[in-house]
Amino acid sequence: MRRSRRGELRPAVFAVATLATMAALIAVTGCSGAPPVTDTGLESPDASPGATEPEQRVDPLPPPLPQPRVDVGYRMPRLGPDEAPGLVPRLAAMAAPELTVVARWATPAGSSVLGDALDARFASAVRSYAEEHGAAWSPGVDVAPGGVGAPCARQPLTEPVGASLTVDCGIVAAAGTVLGERLIVVRREGAIATAIDRSTWYADASTGELGDGAALYRPGAEPRVLALFAEALRSAGLAGVADPFAGLTAEGVRAVLADTIVTADDLVVPVPLTSAADGQARHVISVLVPVRLVRPFLSGFGAAVHAAIASGAPFEPPSAPTGDDRVDCTLVACVSITFDDGPTSLTDGLIDTLRELRAPATFFVQGGAVDRRPDEARRLVDEGHELGNHTWSHPYLTKLPDPEVQAEIQRTQEAVHAAVGVWPRSLRPPYGDVDQRVRDLAGLPVIVWDVDTNDWQRPDRATLIERAVTGASRGSIVLMHDTHDSTIDAVPDIIAGLRDRGFTLATVSEQFGGALPDPGELVSHGPR
Ligand code: NI
Repeated sequence: MRRSRRGELRPAVFAVATLATMAALIAVTGCSGAPPVTDTGLESPDASPGATEPEQRVDPLPPPLPQPRVDVGYRMPRLGPDEAPGLVPRLAAMAAPELTVVARWATPAGSSVLGDALDARFASAVRSYAEEHGAAWSPGVDVAPGGVGAPCARQPLTEPVGASLTVDCGIVAAAGTVLGERLIVVRREGAIATAIDRSTWYADASTGELGDGAALYRPGAEPRVLALFAEALRSAGLAGVADPFAGLTAEGVRAVLADTIVTADDLVVPVPLTSAADGQARHVISVLVPVRLVRPFLSGFGAAVHAAIASGAPFEPPSAPTGDDRVDCTLVACVSITFDDGPTSLTDGLIDTLRELRAPATFFVQGGAVDRRPDEARRLVDEGHELGNHTWSHPYLTKLPDPEVQAEIQRTQEAVHAAVGVWPRSLRPPYGDVDQRVRDLAGLPVIVWDVDTNDWQRPDRATLIERAVTGASRGSIVLMHDTHDSTIDAVPDIIAGLRDRGFTLATVSEQFGGALPDPGELVSHGPR
């Protein structure tokens, strides 16, 4: 994975541009998207005094070719959930003394090359940043204002104290199977930004291809592409030297082009303008090159990305069951909500809610209930939720002789397998009643909880939500039951409350990277 260092651009390139230049530029070019004014010197034939001799008419000239240009007021595309549905927000946050990290990005539902690449990129970025500042990466909650939020939603800024790393994202393109996501990584010391790294990533789900803006161009063509962008700056009077990008290393060139935004008509590259007075970048202007000029330099990937965006086709959102979103619980702060004693007549409604909120859960089912309600059990599996074993008849296991303990567990394993074709991978003993003998007999890891909502006592709604939301910490396993409509009713607020604090919901096994602890191990929360 390439890592661009945009900071290289700043000192070499635009020290000539001043705020006065900016004002002049605004006056010259207007605010947004206006085509260059071209005077052909010809009057229209109808108005010409020579119109009395029609055979000498001058054919109208073809419209002028669009030229590279600067657009001071250009607004980057920023698509919302209506235009780019099917994305899942991700938040990796950490707070330590004099250190804050808040990284947000969006990943396609289910598994995807883009999601995997972004997860890997940010896992590496936040870990190395924490290490640079003497801390081991440990995802936290109550760090990021606004919590997890909607995918790439604008959130309040993090209070600038000590060293901080923030990542903000924006969806700049979503058409057909192509998605474009822009990422702005800012490192700060206090309120001062010390490095800004901008890149835009494109993925085509139909081919599995992925690359940043620099991958849109043919290898080797980058200098010629940059020459087109330089022309725009020159014609706007912004370049104080013949080639404003002169002196950039090959890596520097790729860093500039990594933040290429593709629209139907143009390729757009944002360029920071530096004040001559203090060398600080105060403005970012947009340089636009018409696609027809740059087309010979596009890679096959770049041409495909542009073709999809120019087609205006609606985005084909990825579809995947709720529980199929990959979550790296070493990168983000996870929590598991669990429901015992079902399936019941309420389970279907709960599954609907979890689907709508795209929230995976873990269900500890009773064998007898699965026997009675195989359809609900099937649906739990189809939607990607996790199933655990909650015995056949809900006894106190420590009070039963060995063969009956084993029968309670084994009969349920077989009932679940018969109903849905999967074997439960864990045991939750009824009432949390477990001792070493039961653990030895279980043959499965034993999963209890660290947050008990006591929802079966039917506390009032606010109390129930408060217990689940404020009681949780990273790795928590929250106990609830899908046997009470008061619980089902509170689930949307519980999920919203957990996400507002910065939690990502995950199944219990996801908290352990997909591999639960060994049989007989007793677990009350995930890794912390
Ligand atoms: Ni129970």
